[in-house]
Amino acid sequence: MSKDFELPKDFLLGSATAATQIEGGDIHNNWYHWSLAGKVGNGESSFTGADHYARYVADVKLLSKLNQECYRMSIEWSRIEPSEGEWSMEAVAHYRDEFRLLLEAGIKPLVTLHHFSCPEWFQKKGGWLGKDAVKEFLSFVEFSVKQFGDLVSEWCTINEPNVFANDSYVDGKYPPGSHGDIPAYLKVTRRLILSHLKSYKLIHKIRTESGFAGQTKVGFAHHLAVFAPLTSHPLARLGCFLSDFLFHEIQTKGFIEGKLSFPIGFGYPEGKGIFCDFIGINYYSRHLFKASYNPGNLFAVPMVDPNCPDSHKNDLGWEIYPEGLSIVCHRIWDQYKLPIYVTENGIPDEKDEKREQFIIDHLATICRLLDEGVSVERYYYWSFLDNLEWNDGYGPRFGLVEVDYSNMDRRVRKSALRYAEICKTKRVSLSL
Ligand code: FCB
Repeated sequence: MSKDFELPKDFLLGSATAATQIEGGDIHNNWYHWSLAGKVGNGESSFTGADHYARYVADVKLLSKLNQECYRMSIEWSRIEPSEGEWSMEAVAHYRDEFRLLLEAGIKPLVTLHHFSCPEWFQKKGGWLGKDAVKEFLSFVEFSVKQFGDLVSEWCTINEPNVFANDSYVDGKYPPGSHGDIPAYLKVTRRLILSHLKSYKLIHKIRTESGFAGQTKVGFAHHLAVFAPLTSHPLARLGCFLSDFLFHEIQTKGFIEGKLSFPIGFGYPEGKGIFCDFIGINYYSRHLFKASYNPGNLFAVPMVDPNCPDSHKNDLGWEIYPEGLSIVCHRIWDQYKLPIYVTENGIPDEKDEKREQFIIDHLATICRLLDEGVSVERYYYWSFLDNLEWNDGYGPRFGLVEVDYSNMDRRVRKSALRYAEICKTKRVSLSL
C-alpha cells in the first residue's frame, strides 16, 4: 500500500510475550530441564530469560510508555503448581500484581494458559501423552481462573497447538524431542483440542458464577502460515495439501467447532457449537512445498521461495510476506465470521532495519481486510522484549525493546518509537 492509512479508533494495538521466554529464574518448568540437557542453542538456558519476573514493575511502565493498549502474556504453570497439587500463593500474588499494574495503566491483559511449557512433573509423567494430561491441565486452568478471574476477562487457552505438537513430536526441537512420531502428534493434537473445549466451558462457568456473565472472552492462538506448492508437480500439491490438513485444518475444526476429524477422531466430543469468542491468529510467513517426503516433517518438506531476495527475509531466513496475513485471516473469517485478533506477528531483526516497515506493511494489510469487511479487532506485535526463542536460544531479536543480556538493561528500538506513535494515533503516514 503506498497511501497513508488509518485504523479505527477502537482497534487495539499492543504486543505479546510468553512467560518462559522472558521471566527467567524458574527451575520447575520443562524448558529449564531441556536447557540443562544442552538442547537450547549455544548451551543457553531459560533460567536467564529477560529477568522479567524481577523487573515486571518497570516493564509494565515501559509498555505504558510505548502506548500499548493491550498485552498478551502467559502465566507459567510450573510457578503456580511447582509440584503436582501444590499451589504457590507467592506466584499467585506476583501475577495478580502484574495484572493490577497493567489494568491501572489502562492496558488490557490477554492471558495464555499454555504457551509451549509445562511443569517438569507433568513432563515426567509423559507430558501430553500422559494418561491424565487433560485432567491435570484442567485443574491448573480451574485454579488460575479462580485466582485471577476478577482481574482477567480475556483468556487464550493454548498457544499454537500445531507448532507445539510438531516441534515436540515430529521435528524434535522441543521436549521431549521425538522425531517423526506422527501417532504422538495426532494423539497430542486431540488432547489439546479436548483441553481447549473443556477449558472454554470451564472458564465461562467460573467467570459467570463469579458475577462476570457476558464479560468473558476465550479463544486460542492458531499458528496459520501460508502453504503453497513450489511446483505444479502433483506430489508437491499433494504434500502441500496433506501438510496443510494436518497442520492447520484439523486444529481449526477442532478448536473452533469442537469437531474431531480423521485421523485424530470422529464427531463432537463436547457437543456441536462454537468454542471461541475470538480467533487468535499468529502469522509470520509463507512456506513452499517440494515433491519429497522427509520423516522429520508432517508430509512434504517446507521451504522458503528460492527466488525470495534477502531484503525480503528476516534474520532467521523466513520470508517476509505481508499479503499472507490477508490470506490466513480470510481463511478463518470467510468460514466462521468470528472476531480475529492477530495474537502474534513480528520479525527477528537485530539491526532494526526492517522492523518498522514490517509492522507498517502488516497493519496496511489489516486496513485492507477491514475495508473488505473482515473483522480484525487487534494486533499484538511479537514481541515486547527480546527473549528466548525456544531451541534457538537468545540469538534472534524479535523485541520492540532490546535486552542487553550482560546486565538486563532495556533499550527501546527506533522502530518501537514509530510503533508507539501508531498505537497512539492509529494513523500511518508514509511520508514520515
Ligand atoms: C511463535 C511462538 C512464540 C515465538 C514466535 C517467534 O511460534 O508462539 O513463542 O517464539 O513464534
